[in-house]
Amino acid sequence: YLLKEGEVSAKSPSNIALIKYWGKKENQIPTNSSISYTLTNSYTETTLKFTPKQEDGFDVKVHLEGEFKESFAPKIITFFERITAYIPFLEQYSFEVHTSNSFPHSSGIASSASGMSALALCLVQIEQLLGANLTEDEALKKASFLARLGSGSACRSVYKGLVEWGGNNFMKGSSDLYGTKYPDTEIHDVFKTFHDTILLIHEGEKSVSSTVGHNLMNGHPYAERRFDEANENLQKLLPILKSGDVKAFGELVEHEALTLHAMMMMSSPAFILMKPNTVAALDKLWEFRRETGNQLYFTLDAGANVHLLYPAEDAEAIEIFIENELKQFCQSGKYIKDKVNF
Ligand code: PMV
Repeated sequence: YLLKEGEVSAKSPSNIALIKYWGKKENQIPTNSSISYTLTNSYTETTLKFTPKQEDGFDVKVHLEGEFKESFAPKIITFFERITAYIPFLEQYSFEVHTSNSFPHSSGIASSASGMSALALCLVQIEQLLGANLTEDEALKKASFLARLGSGSACRSVYKGLVEWGGNNFMKGSSDLYGTKYPDTEIHDVFKTFHDTILLIHEGEKSVSSTVGHNLMNGHPYAERRFDEANENLQKLLPILKSGDVKAFGELVEHEALTLHAMMMMSSPAFILMKPNTVAALDKLWEFRRETGNQLYFTLDAGANVHLLYPAEDAEAIEIFIENELKQFCQSGKYIKDKVNF
């Protein structure tokens, strides 16, 4: 049954959460449901080479953008340890991971979602080559399941469009174990035209890793209320997605972003992940929206960068505003123009 050797490749985009996953239990089980847009231009491409070996244990070498990265192997080994029960051939091969991102490594854009999703897609391809015979739906579900064990939010990057993760009693097929594509037919066309322009306010490593961040929710005084609120917010979002109410969408999404940051400010130890220029950009954005009525909203992940969300119908005016007024808040005057992926 052993293959001699071979290689597989996969490409996977990053995603940006609208309702945020923040807090987890054992085995990467989320404490609340979340939903994200899968992006288009921010992606990871991974090739996985595999050669049979005799010795016990895992053997992985990682190359990022063509450069051997000794320090990257432990993260992949940890991932392999977590998934070895589901991917039985991991110890039988030596692996070489060749990976590259479409966005700069130091940009503060997390590569864990796109990276773990691409790697999981590669592993499922190998499993198929070894005779697993999964249907396409089963293969994607398995990849999402594995990606979750690499980095929770990665399970949402396996599908295009809007992807939900976290078992609840109001969404059909929802699960704690893998992401589920939210049906395109339930989404008003305006939300399929959204742009996500990412202001690179602060390049470089985040001051708090997401692992540390999720753990801050253990024993957090507002944790239970937050988990309930996230689920309530997701329930509120669904009819908004159907109706095409961009204003209600934007207000809810901004509230989610600020709540994520508020949770970190109220945790122990406390973290302030915004930079002065994050606040300055949000301030300008609100002023612009008030004065022009253009439908420009923001979300944030666990860092200083600002994701600008807006429908195509307002893109022209908004992109002039970004270039003239918001660009100054970016560390090297740089921002990434991305779009949702439907
Ligand atoms: O997947 P992780 O463990 O890196 O956590 C991601 C958490 C947020 O990006 C802040 C929110 C989310 O739902 O993606």
